[in-house]
Amino acid sequence: MLGHDFEGSAGHIEDTAREFEHEELLVRHDPVSGLRAAIAVHSTVLGPAAGGCRRWQYAHTGDAVTDVLRLSQAMTYKNALARIPFGGGKSVILGDGNPVTVRQLHTFARWLNELGGSYIAAEDVGMGVQELRQIASKSGYVSGLGNTTIGGDPSPKTAYGVFVGIRTAVDLQFAGATLRGLRVGVQGLGNVGMRLCHWLARAGARLYVTDLDCKRVEQAVQKYGALPCSPDGLLTQSMDVFAPCAMGGIVDEELAAAMDVHVIAGAANNQLAGPSVGEILKDRDVLFAPDFVINAGGVISVAHEYLTVRGGFAETPDHDSEQWVGSRVDGIADRLRSIISDARLQNLDPQAVAIARAVALVENGGGSLHYQAA
Ligand code: NAI
Repeated sequence: MLGHDFEGSAGHIEDTAREFEHEELLVRHDPVSGLRAAIAVHSTVLGPAAGGCRRWQYAHTGDAVTDVLRLSQAMTYKNALARIPFGGGKSVILGDGNPVTVRQLHTFARWLNELGGSYIAAEDVGMGVQELRQIASKSGYVSGLGNTTIGGDPSPKTAYGVFVGIRTAVDLQFAGATLRGLRVGVQGLGNVGMRLCHWLARAGARLYVTDLDCKRVEQAVQKYGALPCSPDGLLTQSMDVFAPCAMGGIVDEELAAAMDVHVIAGAANNQLAGPSVGEILKDRDVLFAPDFVINAGGVISVAHEYLTVRGGFAETPDHDSEQWVGSRVDGIADRLRSIISDARLQNLDPQAVAIARAVALVENGGGSLHYQAA
């Protein structure tokens, strides 16, 4: 399904879709509600394509399409490696400077229904529980609503999982060191970044923080004793760990070659601007923890909620939800450790190893993938 409703971008869209080998791409404009959105289903081999719905103001429609295609592909990797029975998908709503309307959210719900469950939406940048609940009033293909004891906003689980990933990466890069006294820079103090600061501060890290919103920076300074930096200033700061928690593509070749850091590990999806960036980091002995490995906490929670609500746990109705989700989020440590160890043995960058593992899992249909209570 490929829409041609957007001005002058159909050729670009088709090229991009071919390059990314997605199963489905829906690009639409509803003239009545004014909703412009794209939904990409990268893979349903392991289950329905699950991934967040992002609302963002893109400079060009083609940028939104490229974003949704890249993000949905990363969701396939993330869900496969997290061993949850879901494929990869993502959606973007093109912001126009106004708040999203109920009518637009209901239109989006209608489009989800047309896809018949091949894509399951959840929160992402610009879309919170409130918006998701509006969509859920017209469609069942939504999760992250908080209608089970453990579900709801995925951000706390994402933040904790990223913390687990950072702790593991530090242990590996600094030969058994802990976070105590290490300088950690957090870029983006939103739903995930601010919570990550909580865990990092508790572990004794010295925080350097930045956000486009000064109030958030001030909050981190007050609550966690963080040192404030300008958005550009953080990128030139000498740090032990850089944790990107804002938008993707932040680490390009230039930054990778120049940054004075030892570990890059954060929540933002698609942090590396391209495959060559991972190579540069490896050659400079900067350890990169692949984002789709360590930011899986949220989708694990969302998956659990969806399976619980839709009856996916029929065979084990009395499983312990906290334990099911918690063990999988804690499992980020072992997954990352094993990927980095393989990467070192093969002299590859960890992202290349992680992608190869995820692709192999999808190719053999998930192998021993199961979702009974852990
Ligand atoms: P959010 O929208 O709540 O926070 C993002 C923050 O980054 C905002 O405070 C914004 O002002 C700031 N920001 C944007 N551009 C910036 C820049 N250039 N410099 C400094 N600050 C900047 O988003 P959320 O939910 O915290 O997500 C953060 C990242 O993590 C996103 O890339 C998202 O896709 C990813 N992610 C989030 C998950 C979740 O559970 N919320 C799950 C997995 C990934």
